[in-house]
Amino acid sequence: MDAIEELLRNFNVDNKSVSTPSQTEELHVKYLGRNGLVNAIMQKIKDVPADQKKLFGQKLNQLKKEIQSSLDKRHKDSLKSAGDTAHIDVTLPGQQYPKGSLHLVSYAVEEISRIFQKIGFIRMTYPEVEWEFFSFDALNMGKDEPARDEFETFFVNAPPSAQFGKMLLSMHTSSGQVREMWRLNSVPPIRMLSIGKCYRPNWDTSHTPMFHQLEILCVDKHITIANLKGTISYFVKEFFGEEREVRLRPHHFQFTEPSFEVDITCDICNGTGFVSVIPSTARNPRILRQAQDDLKVKCRVCKSGWLELAGAGMVHPNVLKAGKIDSKQYSGFAFAFGLERIMMMKEGLKLDDMRVLYNGDIRFLEQF
Ligand code: PHE
Repeated sequence: MDAIEELLRNFNVDNKSVSTPSQTEELHVKYLGRNGLVNAIMQKIKDVPADQKKLFGQKLNQLKKEIQSSLDKRHKDSLKSAGDTAHIDVTLPGQQYPKGSLHLVSYAVEEISRIFQKIGFIRMTYPEVEWEFFSFDALNMGKDEPARDEFETFFVNAPPSAQFGKMLLSMHTSSGQVREMWRLNSVPPIRMLSIGKCYRPNWDTSHTPMFHQLEILCVDKHITIANLKGTISYFVKEFFGEEREVRLRPHHFQFTEPSFEVDITCDICNGTGFVSVIPSTARNPRILRQAQDDLKVKCRVCKSGWLELAGAGMVHPNVLKAGKIDSKQYSGFAFAFGLERIMMMKEGLKLDDMRVLYNGDIRFLEQF
């Protein structure tokens, strides 16, 4: 019995002098380990007179519990003072940090770049703050050309350049066309893919003042409208799906001749321009069949079966001239489309207001 009391006293002294987790561990081994002091006393039970064995056993158990609980407490405290706030359970799953992802527009840029790079186009970027010359003059627009107004340009309040005119925010990626011809020292072949930010003062469900355009320029010997249509068709099928069709509609741009607007079939009405409205009451197969035939209404998305995709055309000889390329030897095509616009046209995304892409609402963005 005295030995038990003494052990407890010794333990209390030892216990006061430990602080680190490893010291606590040592104390545990010293007292409660297999060859520890508590077990050593336990061995003595055989020498205890039979009538005292019970009491001895109880005392010893109590001692053991006391040591155990103060070691436990000590262990927790030492972890705390080592900077941890709780017991460490290494089997618990780690803390989950929210996962970041690319912005929807960045995904589209990557996807579109991959599609064009597969057929040999090289990704270029040209200045967002641009000169009048590359935006208009080099693109066959005279000084008082009304087309300049159509683009509704943001001019920058900065001194003009003697050579290139006023400074402005690039309002279309076509300003990269002549820059690309110059970059290659006017030696085709040219296969440019330029994705850039454009600025125009519009703000509604399908316009933001900053948006992206994607411009393709191809200049080489024997380039024809067939190459233009083939390239657009390839892109449309890769990006939107095999079932989408393309058509070219005559149009006018100053820097292309001939010029086109490119349309693709609407995915809502499959290019028919009509959708059938089936009343929820039409369970009866006869009524259903009749409803499908009779209740056709104009597709609200496209109204005609076609959606406008891009501006396009064969590079105007004057543009080649500005790029110092001989238009007798070389010809080319160019087209451009709005990146956000084609994202809105892509099946499945169901974007009905383009502005959500840029208002920074994390609840929208984190879905992707
Ligand atoms: N730059 C024209 C626009 O912004 C689009 C276009 C590009 C048209 C290339 C023809 C050729 O509307």
